[in-house]
Order: sequence, then C-alpha cells, then structure tokens
Amino acid sequence: MNTIYITGGRPLAGTLAVQGSKNAVLPILAATAAIPGRFVLTNCPSIRDVAVTQALLEGLGLAVRFAEGLMTVDSRGSIRAAPDPTLAGKLRSSVLLLGALLARLGQAEISLPGGCVLGERPLDLHLTGLEQLGVRVRCEEGRLLCQGKPTGGTVILPYPSVGATENLLLAALGASGPVRLIGAAQEPEIRDLAAFLNGCGARITGAGTPCLRIEPAPLHGTVHRVLPDRMEAATWLCAAAATGGALTLTNLLPDQLRPVLDVLRSAGCEITESKQGLTLRAGPLRAPGTVITGPHPAFPTDAQAPMMAALLRANGVTLFQETVFSDRFRHVPALRALGAQIEVRGDLARVRGVCALHGAELSATDLRGGAAMVIAALSAHGESVIHEAWHLDRGYGNFIERLQQLGAEITAQ
Ligand code: EPZ
Repeated sequence: MNTIYITGGRPLAGTLAVQGSKNAVLPILAATAAIPGRFVLTNCPSIRDVAVTQALLEGLGLAVRFAEGLMTVDSRGSIRAAPDPTLAGKLRSSVLLLGALLARLGQAEISLPGGCVLGERPLDLHLTGLEQLGVRVRCEEGRLLCQGKPTGGTVILPYPSVGATENLLLAALGASGPVRLIGAAQEPEIRDLAAFLNGCGARITGAGTPCLRIEPAPLHGTVHRVLPDRMEAATWLCAAAATGGALTLTNLLPDQLRPVLDVLRSAGCEITESKQGLTLRAGPLRAPGTVITGPHPAFPTDAQAPMMAALLRANGVTLFQETVFSDRFRHVPALRALGAQIEVRGDLARVRGVCALHGAELSATDLRGGAAMVIAALSAHGESVIHEAWHLDRGYGNFIERLQQLGAEITAQ
C-alpha cells in the first residue's frame, strides 16, 4: 500500500489473533540455507520482508512455498554463495545469510543489507565475531566477501546485538568445534531461533541468557511453529490505549511483553491476562513517568514509537530515552503535525500530554514510526493521510483489514 486514509476519533474494540513474529521468522528462514533438509514453518506472517526473504532463498537455489501461513522450504539441493544484491539491500536480516552460508559452504558474498533507517547500523560486531571464529572477511565496493569454515572458539560481544548473535549462532552450526557466545542478546526471538535449530538436531544451550553454547552436531529438517509477534501485539495494544478502546489479543505470550504491559498499566489501562492472551481496557491515560529502551528484558526499542503515540494525550509529561538506536525519533515531526507537544534533545524525547489531536498529512519514515503515525491519527479528531505507507507492509500483515475489524475508519490504496 502507498497511502493510508484515516478518520480518527473512534475507540477500537474487538478481538485479534496475533500473527507470527517477523523478527523470529526472518533468522529462521536464513537458517534453512545453513542446513540441507526439508522444513515446515507454521504461523508464518504474510509480510513483505518474508516475501523478500523467500525470493532471496529461491535465488540461492532453495525450493520455497508459502500459503495460508504455512511455509515449506527444501534446501537439499546445491546452493549458491551469493544472494541477489538488490533483494539483499531491501532488508536488514539479509546479512544473516552470511552466517548460514559460511556454515554450509565455508564461503559467502553478500551486499550490505538495507532495513529501517534508525541512525548508524554498522556490522562491526557481526564481522569481528566471524573473524574470531577464523573466517576471513573483506569488504569491497559495498560487498562483504567471507572465506573459511568457522572454527570453534569463544566470541565476546561488547553489546548484545540481536543480529550479531543470530549471525554468529548460524555460523557456529558449521564450526569444527564448540562455540561460546558471551554477552549474547536475550530476546525471545533468539530463543525461538535456538528452539528451531535444536529441532534440527543442533545442540544449543543458554538461549535467552547472555551465554550461548553451540556444540557440533549432524543437522536435518524440522517442523516449527513461529513465535507470536510481540511487537505487533504492542502496536495493537497502543492503538487501543490511544483511542480509549477495549481489545482482546489471542495467540500471544504476555510474559514476552512484560515491560510494555507495565507501562500501559502505569498509564491507567486495565489489563487482564489469561493462558490464551490478554484483554486491555483503556481508561483516561496518565503519563507513566520515564520509558527507557534497552536490550531485552528492558523496554523494547521497537515499541517506543507506538507507545509514544499512545501517550500523546496522557495527562502529564512522559520522558522517553532511546538507548538502542542513534536516530529513532524520526516519527516525532509527524506526531507534532498532529498537534502533539514533544521536545527532543539527544536520546531524550519529552512528551507533554495535550487535550486533543487533529488530522494532518504525513509521510511514514520507517516501520514502527509509520505505525505510530497511524495510532496517533486514529486518536485525532478529523481526517489524516499517511504517504509512504509501504513501510508498514514490511512488518504488519493485513494491517488495514485488521484495524477495520476493530472499528477503525481507515482505508488504503
Ligand atoms: C533487530 O535489529 C531487529 N530487526 C530490530 O527490529 C530491533 O529494533 C533490533 O534488533 C533491536 O532489538 C530484526 O530482527 C530483523 P541490533 P538488529 O544489532 O539486529 C548497534 C523492527 O522494527 N550495532 O541489536 O539490526 C546498532 O547500530 C526492527 O522490527 C552495532 O553497533 O539490531 C544498534 O544501535 C527495527 N554494530 C544496536 O547495536 C553491529 O555490528 C542494536 O542493533 C550491530 C549492531
């Protein structure tokens, strides 16, 4: 979709089933290139980043089919070592094919990845870690050329980078000895990747802790259900909170959203949890205090923009500190255009609640920033238009239809 049209002011209400996680399925799809086998993934989200990854895998020689949330991959044939550069430049997770191809082939040639512009997004932690596993890495004219089967060893990550942890985990699948990752990311998506790989016969321990260990093991295909998308869930909850609505989410693991639920409760939302998911009832919102993003288990950076949008009319001042990315307040000018009062200074954004927001014409800047603009526009009085809406297609399946299901006056073309 290119442009979204919203008439705001209506509370969202109803029930949604949370879809499979973008940030879990993308590393799992990359992992299928590391292991000759047949794979079946259920609860796979129908989003653009999955479609691009499917095309990347097919370009390498894997057979991939996707329909109705079911993805099957056959990687038993011979595969190439160089993914399509144009496709690789469309998303950040294409860089994970480095680790997968090094594990399988002992070589990889890949162009620099794309993805949301959130400030500097270097790859030094990925490449230094691969070099510590004996891989020779060269960068030539925007392409990464890697040679050598990874050896065993210990890699210490100075920052718990999600992508670097995933890349090194995939490379370790082909290592000649045990690999330890110290200072690894602990996100639930890392645990889901490790669960998938252990289902393939890998011997990974410590997933979800800062110390991951991977022992060499023979690998095969598997069947895996993709983790529910906690960021999609956070987006829907923030939309219900912003519009004063009532929302039940199913196919959700509330524990994986604890920091987000804590902030919404502090802001005055009533949230009841059950085994199947949770129900949020929004009251008049009050500023919850300070929201500081950080690596898991801290408040997730991907929920920062949607939460900011939800709190634009909360009574009082909310302070956001963005510690993960260097430029992740790019959605702020659009929120101001809707009437929000936000001051940004370095990694701090100070949001003073206003009584009402009004419609405006906006342009999405990135996936979660675009979602924030939709949330704010849904809680504003009047008409809003959001251009560059294709950003949202990357991470939210059936985005418009599901908001319409909740009573939103929203269309797109
Ligand atoms: C993953 O990105 C997610 N993307 C992001 O979600 C998420 O925001 C991020 O993790 C943090 O949780 C996917 O999983 C596809 P990082 P990634 O490496 O792996 C710096 C979304 O909206 N860094 O943990 O790129 C980096 O610049 C997306 O779904 C280095 O300095 O995140 C950043 O400041 C957006 N050197 C910080 O670490 C490196 O080599 C966190 O990056 C790698 C990262």
